[in-house]
Amino acid sequence: MWTADDIGDQRGRTALITGANTGLGFQTARMLHAAGADVVLACRDPQRAAAAVAAIEAGGPGGTVCTVALDLASLASVREAAEQVDGPLDLLVCNAGVMLAPPGRTEDGFELHMGINHLGHFALTGLLLDRLLAVAGSRVVVVASLGSWASRLDVARMNRDRGRSGLLAYGRSKLANLLFAQGLHHRLHAAGSGTSALAAHPGGARTDIVRYSPRLTRRAARPVQPGWRRALFQEPELAAWSVLRAATDPAARGGEFYGPGGRFGLTGPPVLTRATPQVYDGDLQDRLWAASEELTGVRYHLPARV
Ligand SMILES: NC(=O)c1ccc[n+]([C@@H]2O[C@H](COP(=O)([O-])OP(=O)(O)OC[C@H]3O[C@@H](n4cnc5c(N)ncnc54)[C@H](OP(=O)(O)O)[C@@H]3O)[C@@H](O)[C@H]2O)c1
Repeated sequence: MWTADDIGDQRGRTALITGANTGLGFQTARMLHAAGADVVLACRDPQRAAAAVAAIEAGGPGGTVCTVALDLASLASVREAAEQVDGPLDLLVCNAGVMLAPPGRTEDGFELHMGINHLGHFALTGLLLDRLLAVAGSRVVVVASLGSWASRLDVARMNRDRGRSGLLAYGRSKLANLLFAQGLHHRLHAAGSGTSALAAHPGGARTDIVRYSPRLTRRAARPVQPGWRRALFQEPELAAWSVLRAATDPAARGGEFYGPGGRFGLTGPPVLTRATPQVYDGDLQDRLWAASEELTGVRYHLPARV
């Protein structure tokens, strides 16, 4: 059973985590820092970012902690953030996300879920790629969701309005996360790179992700849990283990996908899992890749898959 005790010594490694001021991103950054990593919290709100830095530093000794301003709903902000990152990068965790966000568009006109959850991370990763490629054994970990399992992605219409509930738009964006992780894995492999791309999902985690959800879901995700709700959501600290395993387990390999091993994949320590067959559809990966490059204007200088 993999636990946080298996994270290993991270001293000398630099990790950038998006959306690290709260929830899974915060827990991931906190535990990496405690293991010795220098962590960069990439957050959209400076005050929340500063509070996260203070909380991490108050937690005990570790690596360094700093912040970079990043609003994934703005390609200009993504570019500025990437320019501010100094030196080589051992780990990039594409974690930030919104679920059931109200109908809306990013600064560049992308549907909010697709824009923030996928396209912003696609652009950020492409802009930071040289810093990752500079480190043998570096990793990109994309945080996905069980919410993608029933989803379909029509790439030609990937930026259509979110629809009535927002759940389909969230699912499409999380499916895009998984397709991106696979597409990146194949391209890095084709390039013979020492950098790898993996994905992880947290199962159900009690975080602010439910901020736009109906009251019943928000109640079910509240911290103190009676009975059946404990089977659906776990504490963010435990839920972050999947991400941490993908990020640090020496045995983990590019293209892999980690998630909780308990009932329905919602809770429990992380295990190697598999996404739905469409995630491994190379043609779909390539179409999403081409559309993402076109929409963001960020080109990856990597060979296509082998
Ligand atoms: N919780 C779950 O049960 C669950 C299940 C499956 C997958 N996930 C995935 O896990 C990841 C983390 O979610 P979480 O549960 O930790 O949710 P969370 O507590 O709501 O944290 C989300 C983070 O993303 C940030 N963010 C949102 N929009 C952003 C933007 N435009 N630019 C930069 N940062 C932005 C938030 O910043 P602010 O605080 O400033 O809003 C926050 O730091 C997401 O990718 C989510 O899809 C979560």
